[in-house]
Amino acid sequence: MKQIVITKHGNPDVLKIQEKADPIPSSGEVLIKVKAIGINFADILARKGLYPDAPKPPCVVGYEVSGVIESVGRGVDSSKIGNSVFALTRFNGYSDKVCVSENAIFPIPESLNFQRAAAIPVNYLTSYQLVHVMGGLKKGESILIHNAGGGVGLAVLDISLHLGAITYGTSSAGKHSFLKDRGLNYPIDYRNQDFLSRILYLTNGKGVELIIDPIGGKNWKKSYRALRSTGRLGMFGVSTVTDSTAGKVIQLAKLLLHTPWYNPLRLMNANKSVFGVNLGHMWKERKKISGWMHEILKGVEEGWIRPHVDRSFSFEQAGEAHAYIEARKNIGKIVLVTDS
Ligand SMILES: NC(=O)c1ccc[n+]([C@@H]2O[C@H](COP(=O)([O-])OP(=O)(O)OC[C@H]3O[C@@H](n4cnc5c(N)ncnc54)[C@H](OP(=O)(O)O)[C@@H]3O)[C@@H](O)[C@H]2O)c1
Repeated sequence: MKQIVITKHGNPDVLKIQEKADPIPSSGEVLIKVKAIGINFADILARKGLYPDAPKPPCVVGYEVSGVIESVGRGVDSSKIGNSVFALTRFNGYSDKVCVSENAIFPIPESLNFQRAAAIPVNYLTSYQLVHVMGGLKKGESILIHNAGGGVGLAVLDISLHLGAITYGTSSAGKHSFLKDRGLNYPIDYRNQDFLSRILYLTNGKGVELIIDPIGGKNWKKSYRALRSTGRLGMFGVSTVTDSTAGKVIQLAKLLLHTPWYNPLRLMNANKSVFGVNLGHMWKERKKISGWMHEILKGVEEGWIRPHVDRSFSFEQAGEAHAYIEARKNIGKIVLVTDS
């Protein structure tokens, strides 16, 4: 098998392909011959040494793949061999063969190819948890989607539109026409406009009921101020940590310095709530995850879940794929494809 290894923390050129013996599925596992691999922002942070959950290098990251079941371990029905599936992987996804628990695989709907299927797990499960499960978004309510043109952003947009919400989204201006075509009601060019003033202007000073914010630091403070009474702020990332080119310690210290603390009495008096989401810490909640995925797959069938792959890179081009994401060029998902 081949794997893309983060050989040490650093620039995209630290990603190297290495060969090793094929993995053998343990009891309850399946071996997937991988066709496509979803890249996530967390992989970039891991490569840079800014993702505390990642294993120490040399390591193989990757949270999601799609492919064909090649063999199964003890206790798994062998008729599954040959099935096309997508799966959550706890690291090791950057491989052309990977073993995962039978519970972590899902069938690929007929309407999706391997690339689009690999774009589902992280983006849509995170979004489902943010918008539906914890954000409790309802018909007629409004949502501000930060990073609306990103993988999670587009997934949140799909779910919010299906719920009948009014959607506001921040992204760079070049992504606005795509976002409008996808149904976003109010794009905001956060690079040239103050999103807080813009939201307050567009909502007659009221603010919005739900904000999903993966930027972190000062942005969380501003987002909180853009909440209407009964508003909820879902925090799920710290993209801002990559803004500075200072050393790792300074980047993390700056982030902590700007991170707000929420006071229960203030929350109570403001009728606002804040919550956090980390899908990577949901591994023990398989039943919940399966239930959410069931709804997501129903959405694929009904046509309102629309995984969007911006570009596919070959396995050998993993470094270029990382650089493309870091240059903030992607709209939606970037995947790697294997030659198998
Ligand atoms: N907690 C969880 O479970 C979970 C799960 C998935 C993702 N996340 C987090 O969600 C965030 C987005 O993930 P994604 O996969 O959707 O990312 P993505 O598709 O790679 O989106 C990246 C885009 O974010 C925008 N952006 C805004 N501020 C940025 C900044 N300071 N640094 C870099 N990009 C910035 C840029 O778009 P513009 O052109 O609009 O500037 C950029 O193109 C990341 O922070 C990620 O770690 C968290």
